[in-house]
Amino acid sequence: MAKKAKVLSSEVGYNLAADVYDENENYLNSFEQGELIPLLGALDGKRVLDVGAGTGRLSLPLVSRGAHVTALDVSPKMLDLIKKKQRRVSMNVTRHDSVESKITTVVGDAESLPFENNTFDIVTAAFLIVHLKNPTRFFDEAYRVLKDGGILVVTNINQKDPPTVKTKEGKIIIESFYHRPEKVVEILESLAYGIEENVFVKEGSLWVDQIVVARK
Ligand SMILES: C[S@@+](CC[C@H](N)C(=O)[O-])C[C@H]1O[C@@H](n2cnc3c(N)ncnc32)[C@H](O)[C@@H]1O
Repeated sequence: MAKKAKVLSSEVGYNLAADVYDENENYLNSFEQGELIPLLGALDGKRVLDVGAGTGRLSLPLVSRGAHVTALDVSPKMLDLIKKKQRRVSMNVTRHDSVESKITTVVGDAESLPFENNTFDIVTAAFLIVHLKNPTRFFDEAYRVLKDGGILVVTNINQKDPPTVKTKEGKIIIESFYHRPEKVVEILESLAYGIEENVFVKEGSLWVDQIVVARK
């Protein structure tokens, strides 16, 4: 009989899955279809916190557009890959103001952000809330660390059944939760955010990804 996949927390699961995560980069990008980054506006000199940053799929393009990015994740192995990629890029950057000086990695939890109030211009969370049972605490923390007038940009994948991931220690499933799009907006509004965009990326008639821009 085939062995059942083990269901693991994000921290344990992504530490095991880090090595294979980037194989899916094009697939993940297809959920955003180029829609997310233009919604962030001008990035030059902006302080951005990328929560659940993973291997830097979003953090690195933000840095290359001039943002100073803090990449936070619960999985140190995922963040190690950001550091490796940064080293590769900064070797090809001749300007003193290198990519390395613009990105900081922090191991931490989205629900208890280790930053002062009013620190960031933008908080991003791409494919993070699928791993939070209830995103309220994270949204509240994001509000606290945003400067007045700053924006939170969240993507919400339409995924009812989490995929099985093959790792060198066998098949795993990373604990995931489905969030109804109207509920995401309702929670954000209840925390005093103003909703500026609520975009649905579609495949045919089915939405695959919700992207919300919420202003403090
Ligand atoms: C699907 S990946 C997305 C990575 C990246 N944002 C992207 O779009 O490619 C989800 C990431 O969120 C992280 N994560 C899950 N729960 C978290 C939490 N409570 N706090 C911080 N990071 C978390 C995982 O470790 C993983 O790296």
